[in-house]
Amino acid sequence: MEIENGTYRVQGIDVKDLCEEFGTPLYVYNAEVIERQVTSFKNAFSQIKSKVKYACKANSNLSILKEMLNNGTGLDTVSIPEIQMGIMVGFKPEEIVFTPNCVDFSEIESAVELGVNINIENLPNLEKFGKKYGNSVPCFVRLNPSIHAQMNSDKVDWWHKQSKFGISADQLDKVKKIEKDYNLNIHGLHIHSSSVIMSPEIFIEGAKSVFNIVKQFKNIKYIDFGGGIKVDVGDEKEVINLNALGKELEPVFKQFCIEYGTDIELWFEPGRYLICESGTLFTECNMIKKNGGTSFVGTDSGFNQLIRPMFYNAYHEIVNTSNPNGKEQKYTVVGNICEIDNFAIDRNLNAVSEKDIIAIKTAGAYGYSMASNYNSRYRPAEVLVKNKKAYLIRKKDSFDDLIKNQIIIK
Ligand code: LLP
Repeated sequence: MEIENGTYRVQGIDVKDLCEEFGTPLYVYNAEVIERQVTSFKNAFSQIKSKVKYACKANSNLSILKEMLNNGTGLDTVSIPEIQMGIMVGFKPEEIVFTPNCVDFSEIESAVELGVNINIENLPNLEKFGKKYGNSVPCFVRLNPSIHAQMNSDKVDWWHKQSKFGISADQLDKVKKIEKDYNLNIHGLHIHSSSVIMSPEIFIEGAKSVFNIVKQFKNIKYIDFGGGIKVDVGDEKEVINLNALGKELEPVFKQFCIEYGTDIELWFEPGRYLICESGTLFTECNMIKKNGGTSFVGTDSGFNQLIRPMFYNAYHEIVNTSNPNGKEQKYTVVGNICEIDNFAIDRNLNAVSEKDIIAIKTAGAYGYSMASNYNSRYRPAEVLVKNKKAYLIRKKDSFDDLIKNQIIIK
């Protein structure tokens, strides 16, 4: 969304017209921003043999998946339906990676049948995989190297704070034993990057430790660094400079490939980086309510449609698109759910009146994909603006959608 001559627009289309045509609340995505982000990610690592697999848990609308496909990404999936949706829009199974967490082995079997890359993140499933497939199906192993790095004088767990993910590096001997017992073909290692990493130096320090682990395996063709790259959401928090990272990683990685003797391919699985900034949630102000000295903007949305502020205390920039020159005032922007439901507390907005369109920015990632029907409300419609045209890519729920799987017992 941009402001031109005092009017908020998406690719030239007036936000007011979008909201009138499709109704609020409304998720709107800008295809130009998706293209910009995919290109910028690819450019950052263009000197390295690498692939970008869009982590579609961030936003799995079929038209968004198609957009990623058209922009040349692969796909990172965490469930069988995500794989099926990817294949449905045209991703080749070999361009899809399945990186689930704590799933029953039957899901891994289904993924093998669908022909996608398999990433195994626990010893019981690795053993079952060995028993069933031996070396007939190659696999990735997801490790949790638990590397510590000094960051802003805090010791933080590198790559991941939570040990639920991956096989911890101190169990490598067990991985090696399963590999040997079943003659497994482990051709990839996966380590999800952490969003706490802000500096290329720290990333590279960790990458070197990962390369040392790779040396303990013979057939590695791929290293997958996962996702977790933050974007600037306007809260003035630091984000990593991807171009600098690409430049600094290149010589270190190329040197490692020479030592290892294989031209390894690096994979990345960004979700947020590719889709977050393209999306805005447009809501309408139902009322202004003053209680206890606070001015509340009561919107027609809620945490059932964008849970991130309440769930993670996440920051989303908010603007009143209907009154860009209005006097700034402090408001608490809330939803219509019957419990505490804040989008922002004490935020400066241009003076808000009833019916104004309030835009909640950087809502493309983990917005709709985490939405629910809580309070028996409909999930909103989604629109993709492409080549200066607005396309409805998902209808708003209907009453039938709400009740369709329910059974009233006699
Ligand atoms: N790969 C793996 C193995 C992951 O676990 C994740 C995210 C990604 C890739 C993509 O991460 P991204 O680049 O989008 O940060 N719902 C939360 C984010 C949860 C991310 C979980 N894993 C939010 O709204 O911020």
